Amino acid sequence: MEFSINSTGPEKSRGACLIVGVLQSRELTAAGNAIDRASGGYLRAIMARGDMDGKLGATLMLHNVPNIAAERVMLVGLGSADELDDRRYRGATRAAMHALAATGTAGALSWLTEAPVRRRDGAWKVMHAAAIAADSDYRFTRMKSKADDCAGALKKLELHAGERALDGARKALRQAAAVAHGAALTKDLGNLPSNVCTPSYLAAEARALAKSHKLTVQVLEKKDMEKLGMGALLAVAQGSAEPPKLISLQYRGAAKSQAPVVLVGKGVTFDTGGISLKPPAEMDEMKYDMCGAASVLGTLRAVAELKLRINVVGLIPTTENMPGGRAIKPGDVVKTLSGQTVEILNTDAEGRLILCDALTYAERFKPAAVIDIATLTGACVIALGHVAAGLFANDDALARELLAAGETTFDRAWHMPLWEDYQDSLGSNFADFANIGGRPAGSITAACYLSRFTKNYKWAHLDIAGVAWKSGKEKGATGRPVPLLTQFLANRAANHRR
Ligand code: BES
Ligand code: MN
Ligand code: ZN
Repeated sequence: MEFSINSTGPEKSRGACLIVGVLQSRELTAAGNAIDRASGGYLRAIMARGDMDGKLGATLMLHNVPNIAAERVMLVGLGSADELDDRRYRGATRAAMHALAATGTAGALSWLTEAPVRRRDGAWKVMHAAAIAADSDYRFTRMKSKADDCAGALKKLELHAGERALDGARKALRQAAAVAHGAALTKDLGNLPSNVCTPSYLAAEARALAKSHKLTVQVLEKKDMEKLGMGALLAVAQGSAEPPKLISLQYRGAAKSQAPVVLVGKGVTFDTGGISLKPPAEMDEMKYDMCGAASVLGTLRAVAELKLRINVVGLIPTTENMPGGRAIKPGDVVKTLSGQTVEILNTDAEGRLILCDALTYAERFKPAAVIDIATLTGACVIALGHVAAGLFANDDALARELLAAGETTFDRAWHMPLWEDYQDSLGSNFADFANIGGRPAGSITAACYLSRFTKNYKWAHLDIAGVAWKSGKEKGATGRPVPLLTQFLANRAANHRR
């Protein structure tokens, strides 16, 4: 979909569909008033009849509105003005996109961006309108034999911004478009089945991305990992017929002397649990166990498109987790790249095993900060549901930066504790420590495990198990946390320059 900014009045606009907001008090927004005036009170008459009361998310499509050049006018309920917050604005925008998709309209012009959202400016509203439009337009059709007939008809969306807000709006739109492109890549990779999206496939995708977006790429093979001593990553991979890879991608947007942010993404292309086999119900969703990796690729794509003045490294340890004749077994002890030994008490806690070696490897980039992104624990889904990612960090300032980026983009994370008290549960009689704690605080003990490999730099961990994909009827990857990560990096790039 193509986006642009428009600052002409609604009564003069031609387009196929004008989208305007209505508040709960049956009050029109400025664009609504302009259309109402031009049409001789047509909108007010409809509202007086009770066909549109401004309830949040209600939509009403009008055709042939008198004296209006556009073919259609869609009224969208915004609810009451004092309650209009981020979530409600996004909900109304999503409802509008949904209603629009049902029509086959090819072009639309939205004035929802003038809705009085509390504490938010025009640029923010433009960014979110575009983000939601792109998200609702996304379809995954690559594995269908016939083209999907309902696939997004909307080709062009113009968003209104006042003359004085034009620069901010254009900038916000540029970021939203880059994030949408990145998130679409993340969704595509997540939605691909594991028989297509293997570790080798991810490596090929990384190479393609490097080529199209001028990144440097390097792929370590199994023999390289053996030479380095990545015993934990290799242990997970040994049960699979697919060869593991450690992908690194470098984006250079600032001076070589500037320390990079390293993003480490869990890339388990299918997690059966290994010998600690998972139950069959919903196991298909374990194709999404590489969404951390996919979000790293998506974020790099967005960062490169935006040409952010910052250095970023993407690091992706990728393998399958399979049971098999050569697979690791509970009780096996392996030596990690850090030199620390681990007793693998549960082969289904494989994410932390592949991440720990990548996190040690990350030291060689002399990072300003390292952020790992992983569909790490079912326990995180129990704790935070599908709303927020779990955020853990050994540095409070870094945690605050990530939380703020999540708030801005509505791609939220929640700060979880990493207190020493939780470390004890990882004890082992046979190795330096075990790869699991008990059932209590499962997302925290997983983060505690990772913290033992991240002592030498500022580090944050995002457990995205609850937010990376949706289950049920709307099953599909969400593209999260590409918006959060891109915003975080954009903020950093802006601050460096000052
Ligand atoms: N990939 C899973 C985590 C997961 C499970 C994410 C379900 C989303 C939905 C991870 O590798 C895993 O299996 N974790 C175990 C850890 C346990 C064995 C300590 C879990 O969460 O059950
Ligand atoms: Mn697992
Ligand atoms: Zn897993």
